Amino acid sequence: MTTPARHTRLTFHGPLSEPRADRLVTRLTRHAPTTVLDIGCGWGELMLRILAATPKATGTGIDLNAEDLARGRQAADARGLTARVRFLEESATGTPHGPADLVLCVGASQALGSRLPQALGELRGLVSDGGRVLLGEGFWHRTPTDAELARMWPDAKATDHPDLATLVDLAIEAGFRPEWTETASLDEWEEFESAYLADTEVWLAEHPDHPLAEETRQRADRHRAAWLTYRGVLGLAYLTLVPVSAR
Ligand SMILES: C[S@@+](CC[C@H](N)C(=O)[O-])C[C@H]1O[C@@H](n2cnc3c(N)ncnc32)[C@H](O)[C@@H]1O
Repeated sequence: MTTPARHTRLTFHGPLSEPRADRLVTRLTRHAPTTVLDIGCGWGELMLRILAATPKATGTGIDLNAEDLARGRQAADARGLTARVRFLEESATGTPHGPADLVLCVGASQALGSRLPQALGELRGLVSDGGRVLLGEGFWHRTPTDAELARMWPDAKATDHPDLATLVDLAIEAGFRPEWTETASLDEWEEFESAYLADTEVWLAEHPDHPLAEETRQRADRHRAAWLTYRGVLGLAYLTLVPVSAR
């Protein structure tokens, strides 16, 4: 292998366990959606499971990452879903592909706006009346210290995320009611972040003198230091949101 494999140990591109994914599929298909829109879908694993559970539904996934989209198309093909799903390589910013009965936006609200109220407003406009939005969004379990922020992502700030109560309030202000509020557990984070780095760590151990080893090692070390710092501080909320009907 000349370069590290990418994300082969991940099922979802985020802290999401199989039991929670099963519960989400059940909850998000109760209203029998016929159209599903996945904003920043990556390889669209959750959307594909939703489509498999709702044989009348069609899905549109939007992402900028060609490799992840190709993985999604391959998975759709393997599950006989190709005729009901499209994976589009384009920006979701200002997307014309709504409204949909179910809109997924997991770890990808930045695609709809740099500020959360703006992204939530976009989501409100993208969901049909009587539909659902699944928003997977970061929040602080507690305010990080300056020392912690310095070890997270470049230029990390305490204002990068709200706390959970504020996050849900913002969703309400944007015209939703929260049907269900749940947050990723520490186990889900550890599973996700370990799987995220595992391919790279094994490759580094096997190729210590590879020309790409030094920059790969630095990137992996930075990511691990960041994640082990935000562990237990940064949360991911899964909000199942119902749009409030227009009066
Ligand atoms: C953390 S990943 C989540 C992927 C997927 N929703 C999941 O949960 O597995 C965030 C995704 O958002 C995508 N993204 C970022 N900006 C975007 C944009 N403007 N338009 C579409 N996708 C975008 C990235 O390429 C990435 O695949």
